Amino acid sequence: MEEFKKNLDESLTEAENMAGQQFPHVGICLSGTGIQIHSNKGMIAIPSNEITQDDVNRVLDMAQNGITLTNQTVLKIIPESFSVDLEHHVKSPVGMSAKKLEVTAHIFTVPTAALNNVRKGFKDVGIDVVDVFPSLLTSPEAVLSRRQKELGVVCVDIGSSCTGLAVYEEGVLRHACIIPVGGEYVTSDIALGVRVSVDIAEKLKTDYVDLTFCDQPKAKDEDIVLSRIDKKETETVSKLYLSQIAQARYKEILSLVNSELKHLGRDGMLPEGAVFVGGGSKARNLIDLAKSELRLPCTIGFPEDQEFVTGTSVSDPGFASAVGALLLSQRS
Ligand SMILES: Nc1ncnc2c1ncn2[C@@H]1O[C@H](COP(=O)(O)OP(=O)(O)OP(=O)(O)O)[C@@H](O)[C@H]1O
Ligand SMILES: [Mg+2]
Repeated sequence: MEEFKKNLDESLTEAENMAGQQFPHVGICLSGTGIQIHSNKGMIAIPSNEITQDDVNRVLDMAQNGITLTNQTVLKIIPESFSVDLEHHVKSPVGMSAKKLEVTAHIFTVPTAALNNVRKGFKDVGIDVVDVFPSLLTSPEAVLSRRQKELGVVCVDIGSSCTGLAVYEEGVLRHACIIPVGGEYVTSDIALGVRVSVDIAEKLKTDYVDLTFCDQPKAKDEDIVLSRIDKKETETVSKLYLSQIAQARYKEILSLVNSELKHLGRDGMLPEGAVFVGGGSKARNLIDLAKSELRLPCTIGFPEDQEFVTGTSVSDPGFASAVGALLLSQRS
């Protein structure tokens, strides 16, 4: 906890110095395998015969019923579609006349202890947390257009400990899940395969790995002299070997993404394809590998620069979840 608070304090001071102003409060986004996503239905009667925003809020609350929330706290409830009496797939039911309102919703929960500790950490360094978002919801906000969400698209956020997936169709969130494999697994594989420290492995990954190197028959292998990264090292390692190690792990991540899409009946079927974000999406030639593994159009999602972020560019796929959180908190 003390280390978390120290890191938090340092990061906030650095951010405040960059921005040239103090932050009275923050919105945070959480990721990780502790986050759970449940799909559930809720139903209420409409006594006044006309659906109000209050009724919509009530039915969304009802959608939580029946979900086991042992040691979990609800972060967000996102409606997928409403049914108004016998009319299904309604997106905005407010103002419609009805006797009964039903919703299918995605409920995002986080371990209560983890959430409380994060909140406590911020409180102890003197910052008020105004909102908490799952980054599964914020990253897509930063990089997907309304049109992509209408036509069908998946946002794949390759982070450090995990990979988040959010599938949109007809403008709504259809499915979200977390795959428990991310960039740090690639780093560990390299550390074990080359027998170097995690820090050296990280540098090898970001500077030398090419995910399609083994598939380029004319590419000339090169020996990487490890003493260039750390003077204590004496060995060399082949770029081909490094790239093979990383490719195997990225193929696993992509095959898990494909299995999720298959489960939804959407493998190779989303017209706007896959948009990759997160630090792990910066691996060289990920897009070529992803196109062949997923059989979908694939792109990297670069958040647009925002007028409320000055002095630096946020057009980096690694910033998607933070930019999306800013956009969502501005809207709420
Ligand atoms: N150029 C690069 N090539 C490959 N991987 C990279 C590159 N740059 C960063 N990464 C990897 O991206 C990961 C960090 O990504 P990101 O900042 O999105 O994670 P995070 O949001 O902190 O983690 P999580 O979402 O799992 O909580 C690390 O594993 C890092 O090694
Ligand atoms: Mg992340």
